[in-house]
Amino acid sequence: MNTCIVGLQWGDEGKGKIVDILAEKANLVVRYGGGANAGHTVVIGDTKFALHLLPSGAVRPETGCVIANGVVIDPDCLTGEIDSLAEKGISLKGRLFISQNAHLVLDYHKAEDQLRENSLGKNKIGTTIRGIGPCYADKVGRTFAVRVADLADLDTLKQKLTKIVDYKNKVFAALYNAEPLSSEEIFKKCQLYAEKLVPFITDTTRLLHTAIDHGKSILFEGAQGTLLDLDHGTFPFVTSSNASSLGMSAGAGVPARDVDKFIGVAKAYTTRVGSGPFPTELDNETGSYIRDRGNEYGTTTGRPRRCGWFDAVAVRYSVTIGGIDAIALMHLDTLSGIKQLNIATAYRINSEDSTFFPSNIETLAKAQPVYQTVAGWDEDISEMTDFDDLPQNAQRYVTLIEDFTRAPVTIIGVGPKRRQTIFR
Ligand code: IMP
Repeated sequence: MNTCIVGLQWGDEGKGKIVDILAEKANLVVRYGGGANAGHTVVIGDTKFALHLLPSGAVRPETGCVIANGVVIDPDCLTGEIDSLAEKGISLKGRLFISQNAHLVLDYHKAEDQLRENSLGKNKIGTTIRGIGPCYADKVGRTFAVRVADLADLDTLKQKLTKIVDYKNKVFAALYNAEPLSSEEIFKKCQLYAEKLVPFITDTTRLLHTAIDHGKSILFEGAQGTLLDLDHGTFPFVTSSNASSLGMSAGAGVPARDVDKFIGVAKAYTTRVGSGPFPTELDNETGSYIRDRGNEYGTTTGRPRRCGWFDAVAVRYSVTIGGIDAIALMHLDTLSGIKQLNIATAYRINSEDSTFFPSNIETLAKAQPVYQTVAGWDEDISEMTDFDDLPQNAQRYVTLIEDFTRAPVTIIGVGPKRRQTIFR
């Protein structure tokens, strides 16, 4: 059974917990897109693991972990994560596989991300400043790209870096009056990364197809969410990769027909970090109530997340383009205590109602949500393990979401721990 898990909103839907639950049965867990802009915390017993690049399976000694070609790897972050797991007695030797074709995020990418965002003032994208956009731009541009395989040929890498850093320094000085970076220093760091990472480098596409041929169970772990997809999200306020399930094939070299189930993860409300239109945003007390109860602060940046009502127009769009078979609805417990809940079921744009999500942000910025209002519930539902035990209003809220999004909700999150999950 091969499964792909993706976010259906603007990221931070709680994918980490679902991946962690399903990783128990998987032979391999695969990251196929994004980079250290993603972040999730896996809790095993009393130990917390904060991961940005390693797939969630990393904390399970029996599970293979693949970082496939579509990921942009910050080697500083990755070697740090490998070391910190080793300190907790968890070794990745022989079970971590890094694609030779994945691209490296180096210091000049992070510098460029920061310089550009600073220069944009109120028009900034609100990136995580992890160098993601500049690295993917170099990948597409090809001339200045550095791939994981380059770590295995340090002489050539040294020459490459001299040219690249010289070019970047000229651009940064001209555009931002920035101090030059030293290619020597970046190369020295790369020597250390090479020592630690070269043993893990391989052809992950071949490895995955061999695993498929042998009937192994593979879990593909998406990063961010469908509305942050470079092509299908709310451009330009998106990330620089195909964060929807559509990115899985290119990012891992595996066709969708080899995946048995696509699970989309959504929160029972909506959050967003960074800039960009957000039709159901609640800039009021209810928004703060959700933020505090749901602990809606970024794992990677610590930024408070913008919070709003569940947007069924947006999630239905994500379900449609992503070929989603089932929804995992997270954080239902966070909504306890709100008297009346709203679900956006259509957008009113220029006096017309539409149920199709406009990914063009000029149109989206004009969208007024049309709400279905439903009664909430007061009960603490965080220890409930059966759908039938949930208050009637909570059950109704879930079934309405199924109706509007046209996908069954088969998993419900009622708290951060693994046991606080209802399966239907
Ligand atoms: P970048 O991916 O750092 O370039 O940031 C681009 C946009 O994607 C910004 O709005 C970020 O806040 C958002 N973003 C990137 N990664 C995540 C994530 O893991 N969760 C939520 N938002 C993210």
